[in-house]
Amino acid sequence: MTERLDGTVALVTGASSGIGAATAALLARQGAAVAVAARRRDRLDALAAGLREDGSTVLVLRSDVTDEEQAKEAVDRTVAELGRLDTLVNNAGVMLLGPAVDAPLSEWRRMVELNVLGLLYCAHAALPHLLAAAEDSPRRVADMVNISSVAGRVARSGSGVYNLTKHGVGAFSEALRQEVTGRHVRVSLVEPGAVATELAGHNRPEVLETMRTRFAGVERMQAEDIADAVTYIVTRPRHVAVNELLIRPTEQEG
Ligand SMILES: NC(=O)c1ccc[n+]([C@@H]2O[C@H](COP(=O)([O-])OP(=O)(O)OC[C@H]3O[C@@H](n4cnc5c(N)ncnc54)[C@H](OP(=O)(O)O)[C@@H]3O)[C@@H](O)[C@H]2O)c1
Repeated sequence: MTERLDGTVALVTGASSGIGAATAALLARQGAAVAVAARRRDRLDALAAGLREDGSTVLVLRSDVTDEEQAKEAVDRTVAELGRLDTLVNNAGVMLLGPAVDAPLSEWRRMVELNVLGLLYCAHAALPHLLAAAEDSPRRVADMVNISSVAGRVARSGSGVYNLTKHGVGAFSEALRQEVTGRHVRVSLVEPGAVATELAGHNRPEVLETMRTRFAGVERMQAEDIADAVTYIVTRPRHVAVNELLIRPTEQEG
């Protein structure tokens, strides 16, 4: 059933750690040339070196996708240097939790700027290329995979603005899916539960303590588990579109 991705090009945002790095690696292993975008160039270089040793083609893009120009440049350079764009994985994100009362507004701004605007800038720049790829590639299908969260399905006290951004990603993804699916651009939403990555580490110490309590004893997923899901989605045959995947650790109840 699985189609390999030879001859295709994927751009993964937030590829310097966690889910993005694991996804870029797995897509490369499936034969895709990968463009990896994030702000920490040293991390991207290390990832690229490992993948190139295995024979993959990798383009490193130091890019802050909250900047409209840089997001567009990441897409444009992917197409200019790797020749096309078949797959966009909109993964870069930040999660800053805690009560809304007295929350630092800067944290809210960071989440909206990255989780919503960054994703939109990349999607906007990529869409013409994805539509073209769906027309002229041997597979005649292209993919945009947007990484949301369980937080995009369930709102909780202490998570309001993260919930807002991820619910927004879900709404945009479904509307866009309806718009472009007839032209064989598949828009998919992946909603992970707790994954062991750097994501939580950006929170204030008091918030981290609450998070530890919530997930005490839960065996978290690994970034590779979500990379596996993304790879499943983009390797489906042309007539199959996986619209949405909600993936929790087995021990995570809510
Ligand atoms: N871990 C979880 O439990 C979990 C659960 C549900 C959903 N998610 C979602 O999964 C996605 C990936 O998160 P992760 O868990 O893999 O966390 P992570 O390890 O912290 O990865 C986040 C990535 O985003 C990049 N990034 C941050 N700001 C950026 C910017 N302005 N421009 C470009 N890239 C930027 C980071 O790289 P630089 O710092 O180098 O830029 C990093 O590569 C996020 O959208 C997150 O909301 C994670």
